[in-house]
Amino acid sequence: MDVANFFYLTLLSIIAFLNLPSLTSSQSCKNSCGNIPIKYPFGTGLGCGDPRFQKYVTCNQDKLTLTTHTGCYPVTSIDYNNQVIYISDPSMSTCACTQPSKGFSLDWDAPFSFHDDTVFTLLDCSTTSSPIYLASGYISENSSTTKVPQCDRTGAPICSFLYSCRAISLLNLPISTCCVYTPVDLGPSFEMDLQKLQCTSYSGFYSFNGQESNPDNWKYGIALKYKFNVYNEYPSSCSSCERSNGVCGYAGAYNTFVCNCANGLNTTSDCFFGGAFNHGSRLIPGQNGVSG
Ligand SMILES: *[C@@H]1O[C@H](CO)[C@@H](O)[C@H](O)[C@H]1NC(C)=O
Ligand SMILES: *[C@@H]1O[C@H](CO)[C@@H](O)[C@H](O)[C@H]1NC(C)=O
Repeated sequence: MDVANFFYLTLLSIIAFLNLPSLTSSQSCKNSCGNIPIKYPFGTGLGCGDPRFQKYVTCNQDKLTLTTHTGCYPVTSIDYNNQVIYISDPSMSTCACTQPSKGFSLDWDAPFSFHDDTVFTLLDCSTTSSPIYLASGYISENSSTTKVPQCDRTGAPICSFLYSCRAISLLNLPISTCCVYTPVDLGPSFEMDLQKLQCTSYSGFYSFNGQESNPDNWKYGIALKYKFNVYNEYPSSCSSCERSNGVCGYAGAYNTFVCNCANGLNTTSDCFFGGAFNHGSRLIPGQNGVSG
């Protein structure tokens, strides 16, 4: 074997070694879940996206789900430009269907807050015993008691429109049993516990869809805002990773950034050739031409 041949064979084995993960494993972090594109800070599994979001938003069998202590909610879409995530609640009432619900709450430590567009309407509340009808002075007398938000009187038309929906009008409820919460914050613990509030069900929407008087066409669901970090900056390492078709993730005891590349390999920067790999070596330019 001459020197040139030996060199060539060595090169081939290095290439084979570097390509091995692409034969045995595919990209562990996906860039979509069903038909929803997945980008930072969301991820499709453990080690993908941002660790703060991973426990709340997960992808299972092509379904993206937000989990809080009150339940699991299908994610309907994500507006990455405006940093808004839209969810639906299967227990929520709409113009088409009313049903009992326990309510909706965010976890106090979740990296989400209600978007200003979200309007909650509590339905069929007890006018004699629900705390939402008590004077706020009475409630704040005991400072250890959670301050309950009061109904928004300017929201009365919303109650009229909703109560005129066929499904709701069948219940024949007095309009006084309806309460609009806006802006939604649900107090310091983000709780809407309908049992505590003594209401039977609720409705939530985030847009009149241009037709305020036509509740059939309102966009029902819940809009939540999210922030990347305290300065709300998109991590630059992640944007270069995504530009190279990688998916941002994290690994190790300190949740350090990894870029999960299409060939299954993880880098500390991006998936362009010459990117620094986590094992310290570099990809050989042109490997795809030689092996493919
Ligand atoms: C790459 O990182 C992801 C996310 O942390 C992890 O699930 C996967 O096992 C890693 N792959 C390799 C080949 O190290
Ligand atoms: C305030 O409420 C808590 C629990 O509901 C109760 O234990 C406490 O005695 C109340 N304090 C006063 C001053 O009423």
